[in-house]
Amino acid sequence: MKILLTGGTGYIGSHTAIELINAGHDVEILDNLYNSKASVINKIAKITGIKPKFHQIDLLDNKKLDRLFKKSSLDAVIHFAGYKAVGESVEKPLKYYKNNVYGTISLLESMQKHNVNKIIFSSSATVYGTQEIVKYSEKMQTGAGITNPYSQTKYVIEQILKDLTIANPDFEAMTLRYFNPIGAHSSGLIGEDPNDIPNNLMPIIMKVAMGEIPELSVYGDDYDTPDGTPMRDYIHVVDLAKGHLSALNKIRPGFLAYNLGTGKATSVLEMIKAFEKASGKPLPHKITSRRPGDLAKFYADPSKAKKELGWHAELTIEDAMRDTLNYLANFR
Ligand code: WQD
Repeated sequence: MKILLTGGTGYIGSHTAIELINAGHDVEILDNLYNSKASVINKIAKITGIKPKFHQIDLLDNKKLDRLFKKSSLDAVIHFAGYKAVGESVEKPLKYYKNNVYGTISLLESMQKHNVNKIIFSSSATVYGTQEIVKYSEKMQTGAGITNPYSQTKYVIEQILKDLTIANPDFEAMTLRYFNPIGAHSSGLIGEDPNDIPNNLMPIIMKVAMGEIPELSVYGDDYDTPDGTPMRDYIHVVDLAKGHLSALNKIRPGFLAYNLGTGKATSVLEMIKAFEKASGKPLPHKITSRRPGDLAKFYADPSKAKKELGWHAELTIEDAMRDTLNYLANFR
């Protein structure tokens, strides 16, 4: 299939591009390079032997977007493009609603106009909001107790997709709810390399390891978990990328939601230990106060994706730490 990856030079998008190209799909990448670098295109070419066509376009630029759809005769879209800094979204909600929600509407209008009826959406486990249950299943309610505009945009976009499948029975929409992506491609050529100041645990660990940040602040060790630090479902980005390929192979009319996680929960201190074991060096860190909004623990029930997509995560935290260090070695 000919597939457009919006946000395809980003962390998840670039790893997904590699899996799609290796599976024989014809991939084109659209990105405005707000939080990624065009050099990723050449790295994808180096890894796969095929250089995907790249369009530096902002989804809010309807004219350029329309010209792309007119020229490219696409079969499907995988939609990664969106701002994703939770903290920033609280300070600047309009920036997030305009870019994430309106950008998606602009994309969907072009798709509709050019009869492109398949979309896979990059969503987030935070659409489940605040739940009593810590093991998230797709049967659970979404949208209640969401604590930030970023996650709210993911929820709203899922509702838009659902409504479109009701209005147009031929429309095929899948939403993939990511848990916590980590790791890098085994080549060491691509990995997490945000332009902005990272909020997430692993890119901060990477910056501490590179000496750019003196030490990691562990946001609280007084949670109701075995070692007191919060627990998350960390999934290797290559497993996550393969989940998109499995989803594409099963896309059909209607709205379908899948959790992409490992089904295991790991604490912050366990992540630090795993990184130290892989690097053979201590990682400077100190316990500080809790980060507002953090939940003690949540992780995926991945059984629906396994059953319906034939996909499950295969790589481990240790694999992710090894691949992250291998990627970091290229930065030296
Ligand atoms: C993980 C754990 C922190 C940094 C967020 C988004 C979610 C998704 C994944 C996009 C938490 C702790 C972190 C640090 C720390 N992103 N931590 N010190 O909060 O689970 O989820 O990223 O979809 O939408 O909400 O991930 O990586 O920010 O934090 O102790 O310097 O690491 O408290 O327990 P989170 P995270």
